[in-house]
Amino acid sequence: MPDTETIRTHGTAQAPQSATPRQARPADPCTMVIFGASGDLTRRLVVPALYNLLRTKVLPESFALIGIARADETAESWRDNLYAMLKSFIGNPAGEFKIDHIDETVWKKLADKMIYVQGDMTKPELYEGLRDALAEADKTHHTQGNAIFYLAVADHFFGTVVENLGKAKLTDQNEGSDGKPQFWRRVVIEKPFGHSVDSARALDTQILRTLHEDQIFRIDHYLGKDTVQAIMAFRFANGLFEPIWNRDRIDHVQITAAETVGVEKRGEFYEVTGALRDMVPNHVLTLLSMVAMEPPVGFDDASIRTKKADVFAAMPAVTPARAVRAQYRAGTVLGKPVKSYRDEPEVAAGSNVETYVAMRLEIDNWRWAGVPFYVRTGKHLSARNTEIAIRFKQAPYAAFQDTPVDTLRPNWLVLRIAPDEGISLQFEVKRPGPVVELAAVKMDFRYRDWFPKEPNVGYETLIYDVMIGDPTLFMRADMVEQAWRIVQPVLDAWAADKTEIPTYESGSDGPASAEELIAYDGKRAWRPVSRPPEPT
Ligand code: BG6
Repeated sequence: MPDTETIRTHGTAQAPQSATPRQARPADPCTMVIFGASGDLTRRLVVPALYNLLRTKVLPESFALIGIARADETAESWRDNLYAMLKSFIGNPAGEFKIDHIDETVWKKLADKMIYVQGDMTKPELYEGLRDALAEADKTHHTQGNAIFYLAVADHFFGTVVENLGKAKLTDQNEGSDGKPQFWRRVVIEKPFGHSVDSARALDTQILRTLHEDQIFRIDHYLGKDTVQAIMAFRFANGLFEPIWNRDRIDHVQITAAETVGVEKRGEFYEVTGALRDMVPNHVLTLLSMVAMEPPVGFDDASIRTKKADVFAAMPAVTPARAVRAQYRAGTVLGKPVKSYRDEPEVAAGSNVETYVAMRLEIDNWRWAGVPFYVRTGKHLSARNTEIAIRFKQAPYAAFQDTPVDTLRPNWLVLRIAPDEGISLQFEVKRPGPVVELAAVKMDFRYRDWFPKEPNVGYETLIYDVMIGDPTLFMRADMVEQAWRIVQPVLDAWAADKTEIPTYESGSDGPASAEELIAYDGKRAWRPVSRPPEPT
């Protein structure tokens, strides 16, 4: 007998009541300047996102894109490379961003707005060339002086680029006679924002010499995911869940960010980063803050970010004994043999860098005291699955004591972030028949049953928000610092620990030590990483 049965709650052929999306207002005229214009991030995410924004008519008509890179290429070859990457998403078998064709009119319109500037971002001369390019963009594309500087470069350049922009006066927002900026200048900073509490603080000090906090947009791309933003709506637009969303009713929470990919071509980056830095103080804590925050008093950025920051501030730093790490060895992922981390390009033969981390986090406030948040993330696992699973406390057994029922399964509420976006609720029902027997069943909502899926890469909302100056979905300086504080003792302990790192088989659900971590607190166990196949 299957342990869990599934009740399907399919969407009807009709769209749900509130399905007609509201058209977002076009953003302000502006120029976007990308540092790292030929890099992977630009090609895979930023430019496809701009293409999508133009396609959906959210990008302002008066827009220009200036690409900056060291590569000695022409605007034409740069555009061709970007086009080739976009083309690779047609019928894309591997990724979540898949398109069936390129709208050539849209692409041409975008390509006509692109200007390429070749140069070294550490040299002041580049910024003189950039000034000319911005003036050209203003003249040709009527961008009214507004500019976004997008730093899609290695993190050790963040401070230098901001300083150079400042020295060239490119971040000044020239104030009018009323003291208000006449145009805006904003800087988008990718992760990682620092590598520790101290380095994040030092970076802030450095960039705040040039910028005001409201000019800085620290990106965490998880906040661009619809399913992450949807957590707030789910919690606060329904009267049903909030009363049970606390330590009286919830036993524990599991947050999983499992990937099937390995480190790919990012060995050099990963060797100095590791799974903890790469995923936990940013993406995983972002998910946690959405689940754990108190209701904001409004949907404005100050109200929301303050509530999230409160969650971080209430979290004690993790004890190293409550964290485990491991590194993948060779194995089979999704039916294909894969090599061990140490055999990846640009990875040291004796590397001790973790590709998997699990830890037990706590939030010491009235809502959550005593409710553990177990988080885990790793590469080369059995499935790609990002989810937040909330396990409710078990019902008292007394009512069933004189029946054949010998076990009550817990209620699980699972928020599926990716790839099969949805929400499911598992509960017990009586199995039909003369004997009292229980079965765990699931009600399952899938976004794709109810809403048409717009192809998007996840950066669209974030870029649009920078253009309209809405920082709600970006990390504030204090949040970044708190996040590092929470994980710092573990980073320090691992840096000092020279013993051989444990391994896990590629294609598995991770190391046995992660099971021990969660079992330590009682009869708890991780949910399987792979979800059972969906009935069709
Ligand atoms: C990035 C990390 O920030 O997030 C990657 O650097 C990771 O290592 C990626 O693969 C995961 O993002 P997503 O959206 O695929 O879950």
